[in-house]
Amino acid sequence: MNKKIKWAILGPGKIAKKFAASLREVEDAELYAVASRSLDRATAFAENEGVCNAYGSYEEMLQDKEIDVVYVATPHVFHHEHTLLCISYGKPVLCEKPFAINQGQVEEMIAAAKEKQVFLMEAMWTPFLPHIKYLMTLLESGRYGKIKKLTADFGFDAPFDENGRLYKKSLGGGSLLDIGIYPVFLAMHSLGLPEFIEAKAVLGKTGVDEDCDITFSYPNGAKAELNSSITKNTPITAVFELEKATISIASRWHNPSTITVSTDEGSESRSFDVASFGYEYEAMHVQEMIRQGRTESTVMTFQKSLELISLLDEIRKQIGLEY
Ligand SMILES: NC(=O)c1ccc[n+]([C@@H]2O[C@H](COP(=O)([O-])OP(=O)(O)OC[C@H]3O[C@@H](n4cnc5c(N)ncnc54)[C@H](OP(=O)(O)O)[C@@H]3O)[C@@H](O)[C@H]2O)c1
Repeated sequence: MNKKIKWAILGPGKIAKKFAASLREVEDAELYAVASRSLDRATAFAENEGVCNAYGSYEEMLQDKEIDVVYVATPHVFHHEHTLLCISYGKPVLCEKPFAINQGQVEEMIAAAKEKQVFLMEAMWTPFLPHIKYLMTLLESGRYGKIKKLTADFGFDAPFDENGRLYKKSLGGGSLLDIGIYPVFLAMHSLGLPEFIEAKAVLGKTGVDEDCDITFSYPNGAKAELNSSITKNTPITAVFELEKATISIASRWHNPSTITVSTDEGSESRSFDVASFGYEYEAMHVQEMIRQGRTESTVMTFQKSLELISLLDEIRKQIGLEY
């Protein structure tokens, strides 16, 4: 067996806990280290999640020569700073989505990784999930004709907390960067880049987009109608209307889920179960890339991350949201 890849977690918050659970499903992965701004928090996380080494500062952890890859799981506004910090120590990085809060930051992160020749990838986990891979084979098979329309949403009623990262502007709050990014990425992944973008949003009292509606129009006449919200529960489904079928992903579509293909002849569904939350698939991909000595993912490429952030920037421009 290959030597285990030693993972380090930077920022032991909510998603880090789920990611750690998923990593336990990856055969040749080791939960090697965790760093928090507080040693107590790092130690508690290490004890609960079975991580071997706890550090009370991010920089201290990054000095550990044993680490093979760092998972950056801090709030959006720190992705740029923390990724650059990891790269300055020569550490490969898997950085949570959104990669950063604007295109300029993403460009700097990519340039730094290229200069240091270290692996860097945005943790946009959906293209690695079995049901999304299956969806792509259906869409690309040509069997059902062209996509005419995609409708996708992601919304939940998050309790208002002016200091929480969802509502606080200085932490990159709002629905778009946190969850709207998923429908936007799905549209990009399946339909490519839109010709026209129309976006409108409700900006709440903290100045962030609490609800965001986006329409993408494509040169072939296709459309994507997307919505994200942190103030209402939405179906969290994705529906593709094609020339000869409707393909829908059941709620919550961005998690491992069920895909139904409906045609004139009837409906057929396929469900996808996974061992953990599903983050294990992106982690396995990162390990494969690192083992192959790559500095860029072959799936979630720098180009994809740049296109994604350019769409998010344009939407933010239209809704008048500046960070
Ligand atoms: N892929 C997914 O499915 C998914 C799901 C949820 C979230 N995410 C992404 O993951 C990131 C983190 O989200 P989360 O919900 O895990 O956040 P969270 O629970 O608030 O955790 C973020 C962690 O970042 C660290 N941090 C460093 N500086 C901070 C600061 N100034 N303020 C607050 N925290 C700070 C904190 O750890 P210490 O202070 O202990 O160092 C904290 O535990 C976000 O960018 C989000 O988009 C991804």
